[in-house]
Amino acid sequence: MDLVVLLICECLLILFGIYMIHSFLNQTPFYPSSIKELDKLIKEGKIKLPGENENKDIRFIDIGSGDGRFVLWAINRGFEAHGIEFNPFLFLISQLKIIFRGLSKKGRILRKNFHKHKYHNYNIAYIFLFSQDMDKLQGKLYKEMPKGSLIISNTFKFSDIEPDYSVSKFHIYTVK
Ligand SMILES: C[S@@+](CC[C@H](N)C(=O)[O-])C[C@H]1O[C@@H](n2cnc3c(N)ncnc32)[C@H](O)[C@@H]1O
Repeated sequence: MDLVVLLICECLLILFGIYMIHSFLNQTPFYPSSIKELDKLIKEGKIKLPGENENKDIRFIDIGSGDGRFVLWAINRGFEAHGIEFNPFLFLISQLKIIFRGLSKKGRILRKNFHKHKYHNYNIAYIFLFSQDMDKLQGKLYKEMPKGSLIISNTFKFSDIEPDYSVSKFHIYTVK
């Protein structure tokens, strides 16, 4: 029995390793960002979220949501929040975090390729992706997100559009 468990664990580890290597070679890999800095800048009013002070509904999405930390942060701020993550391990971990904290009604993680998702329903998108991935998403986000929506990018920028403003490492774009 112990041997079977050990074998299953080893197989899972090998699969995880293969998946991570594949991710590193093909698209933005998982690298978690710190919530503290963004949270502080929002609290200080240096980054303004659309509608937050007018009690409008905020529908947040983390595009490439990793371990789900930003989705949980957004839920805890009272937003309706989704994350999109195609790595099955990260998807599972982050979705379980939401379930075990009893927050399933406020948000969830979708296991899919973010190029195949529809963005009509969101008014804030958070992204921490290489510029080449951002560029592939740019047309889709600007076409589908409602006017006035905010795109907050950590570190990287779209190649063709200048941000409305940048604070620290965050670049803020308004969908026009
Ligand atoms: C740099 S991490 C950012 C994680 C999280 N947003 C954060 O800031 O902590 C980028 C994430 O995007 C995911 N990702 C990359 N390409 C993707 C794609 N085409 N569809 C869905 N997720 C993708 C990766 O698996 C990784 O977890």
